[in-house]
Amino acid sequence: MTNVGVLASGRGSNFRAIVEHKQLGIFNNVDVRLLIYNYSEAPVAQIAEKAGIPSRLIDHRERSRQEFETDVMNALEEQQVDLVCLAGWDRIVGSEFFNKYRWRAMNIHPALLPAFGEKGLNARFVHEAVLQYGAKVTGCTVYFIDISVEKGPIILQKPVEVREKETALFSTDTDQAVEILSNRVLIQEHRLYSKAIQLYADGRLHVNEFETEQGGPTRKVTFLDIDDKWEKDWTRRQQRFIEHQARAWASNPSITEEGLR
Ligand code: GRF
Repeated sequence: MTNVGVLASGRGSNFRAIVEHKQLGIFNNVDVRLLIYNYSEAPVAQIAEKAGIPSRLIDHRERSRQEFETDVMNALEEQQVDLVCLAGWDRIVGSEFFNKYRWRAMNIHPALLPAFGEKGLNARFVHEAVLQYGAKVTGCTVYFIDISVEKGPIILQKPVEVREKETALFSTDTDQAVEILSNRVLIQEHRLYSKAIQLYADGRLHVNEFETEQGGPTRKVTFLDIDDKWEKDWTRRQQRFIEHQARAWASNPSITEEGLR
């Protein structure tokens, strides 16, 4: 069994999607053991409460940096968490945490890294930057965290096409354009994160660390024994979540059927 602990700071839609994969019986040998959040008012806490998942508030504003990190690690330890999933977590992980959870902690970013991954570019600002730049493709990335910001080894990526309509709308109604694009990316995030978790739980992820000819270490995630059968099986199992997602988004006029594909 892989015990997952989620670190989230705000809305928590990625946390909810992970929990839903669990509730719908899609995961094999994955348990969602704990949510850690760092603002008392974070909506994500209610998602955990409703789902009956233990949660812990660890407010970084009431502690030193060191104490905060120690408290987070102790809480994870208490619940015997094997895999840490950062999902909208607004703190940077320190070296002690990284060393302890080396290649056992993931994050999700709402763009195709390394594009639009600079420090300070989170959530809304990422999509705004994508539209501002006029990029034709964006997407989302799940990666193993390391001490750099958004530079850890990439596990999975999913491209999402930026529509002409959104780019055009951006100049007249920035907020609306950003909302539509971010929702379309979010739909893919909610699918991709759980796939990465299942790959981890199945022991299919290996981080290959080596020196390049130009010097300097590099790290790449390789998939172990992942074949058509694994993919097909996952796609079949995840279908239940995709149908559930379609129902959940049905009342949102910004998402058409195409956005749910
Ligand atoms: C997501 O877009 C995620 O990629 C980014 O922050 C956002 C968090 O959203 N890291 P939510 O809290 O999971 O709804």
